[in-house]
Amino acid sequence: MENTAKLPIPFGWYCVSLSRDLQPGEVKPLHYFDKEMVIFRTDAGEAKVLDAYCPHLGAHLGYGGKVAGENIACPFHAWEFSGEGTCELVPYAKNMPPKVANGKQCIYAYPTVEKNQAIWVWYHPEQIAPLFEVEDLPELHSNDWTEISTYEWTFHSHIQETAENGCDAAHFMYVHGSQDVPKGEVRHEGFQRHAHFVSQAPEIFEDGSIDTTGTRFRESYLDTSSNGPGQTWQRFSGVFETFMMGTVTPLDDNTVHLRFVFTQPKDLNAGQDLMSQAVIQNVASQVEQDMPIWEHKVYRPQPVLCDGDGPISQFRKWFSQFYADGSGTKDSKAA
Ligand code: FES
Ligand SMILES: [Fe+2]
Repeated sequence: MENTAKLPIPFGWYCVSLSRDLQPGEVKPLHYFDKEMVIFRTDAGEAKVLDAYCPHLGAHLGYGGKVAGENIACPFHAWEFSGEGTCELVPYAKNMPPKVANGKQCIYAYPTVEKNQAIWVWYHPEQIAPLFEVEDLPELHSNDWTEISTYEWTFHSHIQETAENGCDAAHFMYVHGSQDVPKGEVRHEGFQRHAHFVSQAPEIFEDGSIDTTGTRFRESYLDTSSNGPGQTWQRFSGVFETFMMGTVTPLDDNTVHLRFVFTQPKDLNAGQDLMSQAVIQNVASQVEQDMPIWEHKVYRPQPVLCDGDGPISQFRKWFSQFYADGSGTKDSKAA
C-alpha cells in the first residue's frame, strides 16, 4: 500500500477573524472548513457565525446581508435571522412558514466566542457541541502589554503539518539555520500540549546594552503550547519577554490560514526591545522558510523516523484525538 494519506479537518476552536476586523453592523462572507459561512457583528456588539445560505431561496447572507439590530437580514427578500439561526421576521408574509415558525432553528449557528482579541468558532464535522474551551491569554488583554502586531499567510498544507513542524527537531538546523537541535520537555495534557525549551542568550544589561563580548550569557526560555489544533501560543522569557498567539484555521483539507499575533511588555529597555523585534522577525521568517516544503510535501502515515527526529510519534498520537473519524489512530495501528 502506498505510504501516503489524506487527513480530514480536525475538530476544535478556530480563529475566523481578529476582533478589530469586524465592527458592529459589519457582515462578511467566510470560507473555512470547506463551508460557506457568514460572520456579522450585531448592533449590541456580539459576533455571530452562521452557515451562509438562506433557507428561503438560498441567497448567501454574506454578500449583501445587513445587520438589523441583533439579526441579519437576507439580501434577497429581507427575511431576518438571529445569530442562533432562528427566523425572526418574514416582512411581507401574513404567516410564518411552519418550517421556520416558533423559534425553530433553520440555519446552523457555529458556537462562537470572542477572546484574546479574536473571534473563534467551534468546528466539528458532526456538529457536536464544544468539548473544550478557547484558552484565555492574559497578555492579550493587559494594559501592560503593547498593541498587537500581526502577520498572516494562506497556503496549501494540511493543518497537522504546520503543527507537527514545532516538534520536528531536526528541521530547525536544515531549514531555519539553527546551530543545534532544540530539545524541549514536552507535556501532553488532554486537549493541550506544552513544551519548554531552555537556551543561552547574550546578557542584556540594565541600561539596555547587549553583551557583545560573547562571554556573558543568561538562560532564555521558550514555552510553547497548543490548545486543540487551532490555537497555539509562545512565551519567550528570561532575558526579555515576548508573547505570540498563533492561530491555524483550515480553509479545506489542503489549505490553511495562519495568523501570528505578537505583543510585548511596554516597559522593555532598548536592548530587550531589539531582541524582541529580532525574535518576531525570526519567527515570521521561519514560516516563509517552511512554506515551500509544506506546499509540496505528502503526508507519510508511517514515516521512517530516526533517533534525532524529536517527539513526532507522540505528537501524532496527541493530535489524532481531534479526528472525529479516528484517522490518526488508524495510522498508528497500521504502523
Ligand atoms: S433567499 Fe433569503 S430571504 Fe429570500
Ligand atoms: Fe519550521
